Amino acid sequence: MELKNDRFLRALARQPVDRTPVWMMRQAGRYLPEYKEVRAQAGSFMDLCRDTARACEVTLQPLERYPLDAAILFSDILTIPDAMGLGLYFETGEGPKFRKPVRSAEDVAALTAPDAERDLDYVMRAVSTIRRELNGRVPLIGFSGSPWTLATYMVEGASSKDFRHVKGMLYSSPDVMHQLLDTLATAVTDYLNAQIRAGAQAVQIFDTWGGTLSTPAYREFSLRYMEQIVAGLIREQDGRRVPVILFTKNGGQWLEDLADTGADALGLDWTTELSSARSRVGRKVALQGNMDPNVLFANPSAIRAEVGRILDSYGHGPGHIFNLGHGISQFTDPDNVTAFMEALHELSPAYHAQ
Ligand code: CP3
Repeated sequence: MELKNDRFLRALARQPVDRTPVWMMRQAGRYLPEYKEVRAQAGSFMDLCRDTARACEVTLQPLERYPLDAAILFSDILTIPDAMGLGLYFETGEGPKFRKPVRSAEDVAALTAPDAERDLDYVMRAVSTIRRELNGRVPLIGFSGSPWTLATYMVEGASSKDFRHVKGMLYSSPDVMHQLLDTLATAVTDYLNAQIRAGAQAVQIFDTWGGTLSTPAYREFSLRYMEQIVAGLIREQDGRRVPVILFTKNGGQWLEDLADTGADALGLDWTTELSSARSRVGRKVALQGNMDPNVLFANPSAIRAEVGRILDSYGHGPGHIFNLGHGISQFTDPDNVTAFMEALHELSPAYHAQ
């Protein structure tokens, strides 16, 4: 199936495009009334992830509303620990929880990497179904959490503010932490490769919590494992490169290290300026980002001004994928996203004129 819109993949390869491609982290989700409707029919969040037809439907919902240049698989980063038997559940309003958190050397030793094709078959079915339904409209992004980010949820047993259990393990038993991260790196590599084989045309690794680490701890416990994963991924399928995007939230000070991993692109949050990121690493990687999702709580003219400022910060030429610096808030007015898209479509072609 020929891609009708390959702007996103071209920008990832730092090839010329007619305008800046865009997608939004968490673009399928609760800010969309049509998502809430399907979500209510499906039962729990994980039931929705396991329901191939509905997972496909909600993946496509934001594309029906907005001129996005990529789709992202509807799933979650916590499917891997769920498949490891930790008992994932979602308590309304409280985020994810695990019935059996990983707290000891024995707990870590008992874990094995799931076989993605077998134990996460519902994810692969969703990928291949979405690919078929997209019918070449835009590319499909697959994703996973980074080993460190997955470990934070597995050890804390829930979302955390201070990360005391997982950092306690890191500092008191680094060998145990390495064993856990090693198992997770194997799991993530296998999981992303299975998604690529099922039809994912690019993959993103979400390192949501890497930015909570010191520089030496980041290199040793997060970056190193992402590098290992990048080295193990399928990088070409059906004659086209399958690009890898690394997103360490609050990772702006480590861009040079991230660019050296062999990734094709880096995701940036709003605390790192695109202009300086481009001069630091723009010869090696494409850059994705970085509008503060809270800008979408402003009025359309303020949104437009911020879109213009961000385009200007990256500057002229290829290699920029517009995105938010983190996931879109559930409280966002969908009409403000329309204003965001209109501003981008109006303003971005000037940055690609030959
Ligand atoms: O981007 C997309 O549209 C694809 C879907 C997607 C979801 N989660 C769906 C989801 C993606 C890419 C994720 C990634 C994810 N999940 C991350 C990394 C990105 C980030 O935000 O930093 C993390 C840390 C998680 C773990 C997770 N899943 C949390 C903390 C929560 C609860 C918080 C929340 O927003 O509700 C989830 C649940 C979740 N994952 C929802 C969605 C749409 C909301 C659940 C619902 O509909 O009830």
